[in-house]
Amino acid sequence: MNLKSILPKPLKRFIILQRARGQLLSLWFFSRTRFLSSLYYCFFSRQFAREHQAVLNGRLAFAREQGMGQNSSTLLRRNIHRIEKGLIMQPRKALFALGYINATIGAFEQAAANKSHDQHELKWAGDVLSEYFNSVELDKLDAQLKIRFDGARQGSPDLPKTDQQSVPYTFASKIQAPVSSEAFLALCTQRRSVRWFESKAVSRELLEQAVNMAALAPSACNRLPYQFYIADDKAQSQRLIEIPLGTQGFAQNVPCTIVVTADLANYPTERDRHLIYIDGALAAMQLMLALETLGLSSCPINWPDIERCERKMVKALDLPATVRPIMLMAVGYGHADGKIPFSHKKSAQQLIHYVH
Ligand SMILES: Cc1cc2nc3c(=O)[nH]c(=O)nc-3n(C[C@H](O)[C@H](O)[C@H](O)COP(=O)(O)O)c2cc1C
Repeated sequence: MNLKSILPKPLKRFIILQRARGQLLSLWFFSRTRFLSSLYYCFFSRQFAREHQAVLNGRLAFAREQGMGQNSSTLLRRNIHRIEKGLIMQPRKALFALGYINATIGAFEQAAANKSHDQHELKWAGDVLSEYFNSVELDKLDAQLKIRFDGARQGSPDLPKTDQQSVPYTFASKIQAPVSSEAFLALCTQRRSVRWFESKAVSRELLEQAVNMAALAPSACNRLPYQFYIADDKAQSQRLIEIPLGTQGFAQNVPCTIVVTADLANYPTERDRHLIYIDGALAAMQLMLALETLGLSSCPINWPDIERCERKMVKALDLPATVRPIMLMAVGYGHADGKIPFSHKKSAQQLIHYVH
């Protein structure tokens, strides 16, 4: 017999109330100062433990690898982005990037020496660096930098051959999409969270097209720290989509599940730890709209920070300690008879605060 069942109801209610009061009091107390908050999350709750460790693992990985992955370099991407920003400044400085040009050339040399490095990334970096050396006052730069750059570039004969330089261009020459605001509004309205799908495999070609469109989303310093793990086999899809909460009742009919993950190894410091979520979410939104244009529907799925879910996902995808799931996405061909919640939205008047 358990104690709960023999307690009189008023006493049970009293205990529940006292417990709630105690919790409120402890929240009030530990939220008074940052030090107390840290004590709370050190001794009374381990909710942030995994995130803390992942951030430190990310810093360690960055310090060791300098953002160099198998075929892409975060450091190179970030620094080339910074140099591009220097090149578009009005007025452009005669000399810039002095604090990081040496590291950039180092990253370029390392990438150029690696045959499996993304040749398009390398071409972009090479074109931008070439423009940089043509634009700055060379005589004020360490002459070795240009020599090292030329050597590394000549050592990579496999760079994609195209007349188009991967360098800054004018607003006037930018692509203008033939999409009216009415058409975009229609697309945004068309995209709704769909949870009932036809029992039909999702085309990989379409998924790849959609991911290429998603990758055009903005990303802090153009690092694109995310990856898409796609389970397009129904059994695998169900295995993954059942891991988070929030999919009960429809998990069994989702033909394809995408797990959006992102890697904290892209950042040397804690201050950028939220970028994985921001960049991941921006790409995920663009992915959902892209899927719509390809005749596919989707439903974003929350990734709750629950230790047992995290452990299951890490095991299922064999994720390194620096990689965190951001969210999941159910994808498929919407079932004509499946219903969709109305989901009333807020208006601009409710959402905007003009700042005076
Ligand atoms: C971050 C995020 C997490 C979500 N998680 C779930 C989920 O776990 N299960 C689910 O059925 N829908 C989930 N949704 C879908 C929302 O319920 C849905 O976007 C919202 O009700 C608005 O409907 P709409 O997407 O059709 O506009 C999630 C949406 C977002 C953006």
